[in-house]
Amino acid sequence: MPNDTGFPSRSLRDDVVHAAVAGLTATRKTLPPWLFYDQEGCRLFYEITELPEYYLTRTEAAILTSQAAQMVPASVRDAALVEFGASSEHKAGYLLGLTDAAGGPLFRFYLPVDVAQAEMLAMQSRLRQSHPYLRVMPVVADFMQPLRLPPIDGARFGFFPGSTIGNLDPDAAIGFLSRAAETLGRDAWLLLGADLRKDPAIVLPAYNDKAGVTAAFNLNLLTRLNRDAASSFDLETFRHEAIWNDADSRIEMHLISMVEQTVRVAGRAIPFRRGETIHTESSYKYRPETLRELASAGGWRQERIWTDPQGWFGIFLFQRM
Ligand code: AVJ
Repeated sequence: MPNDTGFPSRSLRDDVVHAAVAGLTATRKTLPPWLFYDQEGCRLFYEITELPEYYLTRTEAAILTSQAAQMVPASVRDAALVEFGASSEHKAGYLLGLTDAAGGPLFRFYLPVDVAQAEMLAMQSRLRQSHPYLRVMPVVADFMQPLRLPPIDGARFGFFPGSTIGNLDPDAAIGFLSRAAETLGRDAWLLLGADLRKDPAIVLPAYNDKAGVTAAFNLNLLTRLNRDAASSFDLETFRHEAIWNDADSRIEMHLISMVEQTVRVAGRAIPFRRGETIHTESSYKYRPETLRELASAGGWRQERIWTDPQGWFGIFLFQRM
């Protein structure tokens, strides 16, 4: 889990408390989006991916289904697929099944990088059945921190699907891309899925769905703080809001206090004005050239882009410069 204190974290709970206090005592209150993903948050996110309004997951899947075979350059053989943030093998499955003209698999190694150790062990045993030749080597780590991979020879092919990069402000995105370049080493490739800039009338409903699942996902963060950061949020007094920030080309999710109140968070009293917001997530929607520039600043040269027929979502292939 993110830990910017300079000290190793003692536990996830300490990280939650630290993040909550830091974010809620700032002048403009924020909470980092990794706090969404407790057990209930993971369940709600999965529900979001199946909503009619949430086009991202199914659009990316459609591009992968139709184009995956073109996404791995001919020079990549017996390579290692390194997936950043991988609690299931679902998306890697589009690539792990690829073979060369002689029927040999393109990937010999699969290195999922995630903090979810139990999920990675489960996927390792599933893959032993479905892809017996594949060596699965889970790397238990927060992919936002510098990390070292186990030594393997062969090309490294990074994979960062899902527009997870969209949660990062530009400087943090460049930081991630530079660290990935460092981690993957010389001659590496990176395949990255990112949501593209489009009419806000399409984007907004994806973050403010009719069934209220996104609202529940956002508000669940307060339930989590009540449990894991000794907090006293009354969920009846906060509401979900999603806004389109055109200047920064991003959706912002907020939790808005509907009343003036004081909330206890890990022994501190946090005052809220009526209407004051907690900014809980940014989700950037990129112009292709903007993402190309971020990648270039992180040490990657763009090779190709694949999109759906409507141009809503992009899968970018980069090579290390
Ligand atoms: C997992 C970061 C890609 O930003 O669309 C879904 C998370 N937030 N609904 C996104 C999310 C609200 C999602 N990402």
